[in-house]
Amino acid sequence: MPGDGIGPEVTAAAHKVLKRVADIHGHSFNFEVRLIGGAAIDRTQNPLPADTVASCIESSAVFLGAVGGPKWSDPHAMVRPEKGLLELRSVLGVYANLRPVQVMEELIPASPLKAEYLTGVDLVVVRELTGGIYFGKKTRSETVASDLCTYHTHEVERIVRVAARLAGERRNKLCSVDKANVLETSRLWRDVTDKTMQREFPDIAVETLLVDAAAMHLLSRPSDFDVIVTENMFGDILTDEASMLAGSLGMLPSASLGDSTRGLFEPIHGSAPDIAGLDVANPCGAIGSAAMLLRHSLGLSEEADSVEAAIHTAIADGARTSDIAAHGETPVSTTAMTDKIIAALG
Ligand code: IPM
Ligand code: MN
Repeated sequence: MPGDGIGPEVTAAAHKVLKRVADIHGHSFNFEVRLIGGAAIDRTQNPLPADTVASCIESSAVFLGAVGGPKWSDPHAMVRPEKGLLELRSVLGVYANLRPVQVMEELIPASPLKAEYLTGVDLVVVRELTGGIYFGKKTRSETVASDLCTYHTHEVERIVRVAARLAGERRNKLCSVDKANVLETSRLWRDVTDKTMQREFPDIAVETLLVDAAAMHLLSRPSDFDVIVTENMFGDILTDEASMLAGSLGMLPSASLGDSTRGLFEPIHGSAPDIAGLDVANPCGAIGSAAMLLRHSLGLSEEADSVEAAIHTAIADGARTSDIAAHGETPVSTTAMTDKIIAALG
């Protein structure tokens, strides 16, 4: 689903890479293209048409570019593009959103942070994706509005398990982020996390941070973190912040997973309407998401590794879209960046 803004451009890049991977490794992938978001509203008045849902459910994996834009942001609009994406996450049951943040040595100059903080940063934020304030009841009258935030024990248990298993394959460190000094949902989150970790993952070191402190620690000691688990909205905010460690929002991929192998894969960036159609968007987040698709939904981990290595090679060879180009460096287009990555695939 290309979606809106730069979505079609970065989706085309990921598509090209997947086709090349299929050629190199002798696979055949069947692609279907479907409408979502503003593009779907324009054609069908519905940000998530029924045939899009049906096609996603029948597929082994789902890829999405981005949704949203000023064209559909009228505060009085009946329906917004984002609603389509939220519904899709919910329908697919993809409650665990993995957002890896790795700092490539070559991109340290692209980050606004000092180099000494960035070396060795390698963390994954596991964001709860189908609960919390995003999905609670909303009310609105002339002078008052409310958004309800609800979490059930089972929702916290299952996301903590995903995060703890991941930590077990990495550096055995889990940091749970909440706002337990203020929010009741966070107090439940903390209780359930502590119990689940003690009972099921006694060998993993658990740290708990309040979200305001976590926002600071992500900048002051980012390389200390291994796996961070947090609720839906905190994860949304902290990952945009964390993307600056990697140099740009455009670098970060994501995988949204549930209990089956069928995942939803999307870069964490938005539709960037200001640069849409200019062939300047960074395709790395989207191509990295395609790598995660190969790994998590298709079980093709070697292929996934090769795509991630190709992104790294292209960057090590000096290819930079404008968001990660340093002063004096000539940026390349989305298409040229994609072609460099494909060339690096061999
Ligand atoms: C993201 C985006 C979405 C979110 C929007 C587009 C609904 O910001 O994937 O991070 O808030 O989850
Ligand atoms: Mn976001």
